[in-house]
Amino acid sequence: MNLKVNHIKGLAGFATIVVVLSIYHFLAVQEYITAPPIFPTPGNYRVAHGGVYVFPNDFTNEKLDKYMPVLDANGLYRYNGSTVPATSFNDEFHSFKMNIFGSSKNIDGDQSKCKDINVQRQVDINKSQNINIDIEEVMQKFIQDMPQNSYYREVAPYFIDGLKDQLKEGTVKRHWYQLAGSSVWLEQYGVYFTIRRVMYSPAGFKNAPLLSLTYAQIFDDQWREIKDHNLVLPHEDESENGLEILKFPSFLKIPFFHDYDQTKKRYYGPEDPRITLIKNKAGHFEPLIVFNSDHRQLVTSKDSDTLEPQNFRSMFLCFPFQHQVGKANVDAYDQERFSDATYSRVSELRLDDGPRLKVQKNWTPFISHSQRLHNGGYDTHVNFVYRWTNLEVLQCDIHDGTCNFSYRLDSSIERGSAVGPMRGGTELYSINELLINSGVEKNYYLPPNREVWVGFARAHLDGCGCGKNMYRPNLVVIVGDTVEGEFIYKISHISSSLSFDMNVVGWDMDNPENLCTGSNVLIPNGIASWVVDLATDEAAGWPNDVLTLSLSVSDISVEIINIKNLLAEIIKFSDVFHDQSSAKPYIPSSTTSSKLIGYNNDNVKCTLRASEQFCAAYGKAFEESQNDANLK
Ligand SMILES: *[C@@H]1O[C@H](CO)[C@@H](O)[C@H](O)[C@H]1NC(C)=O
Ligand SMILES: *[C@@H]1O[C@H](CO)[C@@H](O)[C@H](O)[C@H]1NC(C)=O
Ligand SMILES: *[C@@H]1O[C@H](CO)[C@@H](O)[C@H](O)[C@H]1NC(C)=O
Repeated sequence: MNLKVNHIKGLAGFATIVVVLSIYHFLAVQEYITAPPIFPTPGNYRVAHGGVYVFPNDFTNEKLDKYMPVLDANGLYRYNGSTVPATSFNDEFHSFKMNIFGSSKNIDGDQSKCKDINVQRQVDINKSQNINIDIEEVMQKFIQDMPQNSYYREVAPYFIDGLKDQLKEGTVKRHWYQLAGSSVWLEQYGVYFTIRRVMYSPAGFKNAPLLSLTYAQIFDDQWREIKDHNLVLPHEDESENGLEILKFPSFLKIPFFHDYDQTKKRYYGPEDPRITLIKNKAGHFEPLIVFNSDHRQLVTSKDSDTLEPQNFRSMFLCFPFQHQVGKANVDAYDQERFSDATYSRVSELRLDDGPRLKVQKNWTPFISHSQRLHNGGYDTHVNFVYRWTNLEVLQCDIHDGTCNFSYRLDSSIERGSAVGPMRGGTELYSINELLINSGVEKNYYLPPNREVWVGFARAHLDGCGCGKNMYRPNLVVIVGDTVEGEFIYKISHISSSLSFDMNVVGWDMDNPENLCTGSNVLIPNGIASWVVDLATDEAAGWPNDVLTLSLSVSDISVEIINIKNLLAEIIKFSDVFHDQSSAKPYIPSSTTSSKLIGYNNDNVKCTLRASEQFCAAYGKAFEESQNDANLK
């Protein structure tokens, strides 16, 4: 296939252009409590933190002159480097096969016909790199920073005594774990904004953390951490005078409900954070975090009209570049001791219909680039895959946090029914945005009214042949069309379990070589960047592309890996994209799934079966290696 570039944008100077992912969201009005007001310049963000201040590269000189004197900092600079992450097209890559199930044919759930929709693809991958933080050092620093940080003082009572002992005894790693790393590239600063979940278990059980926090760092384009830097944040309101600063590295001040007197069987704090990028009304990109958390709300009691507090686990949005004062929106009412504290702004996501479910988690976020364009260039909605088997998609309003289903494959399914083994992993990345930002002529490849997203889900398989359960990533391609003004989505392609040839360690930290004892876990968490290299000789055909993915092994690590030429492989799916063959992409002619091709669970079922086979083979290979070892 030949590359068709967008000459209007001018190919000449375009070497490598990155696309930054995008998502966004915001929650707000509760039943009885209104969303917190937005405080753009709380006083305590004005103090000079020391270290270096990084201004976004679109700050005017005038603004710089205004702000400089406010900061008695020793280092001040405006970012002047690359706006794209380094592309490691020349890393040592090796080929990696993916076993994929498409949707070009209905097989009516007949598993013996999975081969009819099976396609093999090959990409190149490099060796993963571990980017774990030194948890002892981080917690030492936490103790040092406590006097200046009210959030740190708020959460410290849950662990501070224990932590001091653990530091003395060298047992910090027995109680503190890191996982679920995800990143976005902030082109205006030239850094990766990376978050990870840090969790604490007093008893040393990594599946029962009393507390979860979100640790934020910035990295340069080659994944070298930048320490003691403050990002100077752009204001949505340009007339704003104050200065807002976010310090790196540090734990984000995400507000959550907690009760110092209740520490048994409690799981406080933001869990499974995912980060993505949205474009706000002022035209700035800002990170958006999606997480789930325990919180308390007032609900009408069953037998009377009185309101009583009840706890729920729900999905939230967090805007780390925005702030709120107090945390009544997660506590059910204002608690005086917290009412002056400043936090990152959070917003609960709520389905419009009916009461809250006790537990909501694993929503997979994605921003629609077409919606953004349609809205005049900024994001007003964020979408979520709510369910993979029997695909369901939610559309949520950024301003009030309410969500509606924008697509349901089967509308008879109850909202609270089990979602099945296929669940969310990374956010989904818009191919439309990737093509456009790379200077590729989108309309040459994509039919009108179509948007395509790519991401990595994960299958949770119980008793499949290796320990209690196994988790592995699955590549997913989602196609969304607008037909007669309605959205219709399908999983056009989904792969079987992917190992990325990474080393997995067993769940038991004392016996990591026991791969099949307990859980065997490799989970994809985020797509940090996706770069298309238009410098590739046009005559050579399609350009190279590199996607950087982050994953966690056994809930104790954050790893990144490069995948080369995934876009090049995906763009060849001729039922989705125009290619230069005679095949025409398939366009749904109505929104009635039963009349269409591929709007069903065929490929998900085939994938789950293949993933189980993957697990069984993995378990068998492990057993054999054990036997061999015993014979020696
Ligand atoms: C970027 O800024 C730094 C710090 O002010 C300076 O040392 C460096 O020379 C600048 N680089 C370029 C390419 O202008
Ligand atoms: C959800 O549906 C209601 C009723 O049709 C509508 O008022 C609301 O704007 C919708 N919300 C979103 C986020 O689409
Ligand atoms: C593979 O890619 C990642 C992400 O860019 C990088 O950090 C890592 O160093 C690469 N691995 C090797 C062995 O070069």
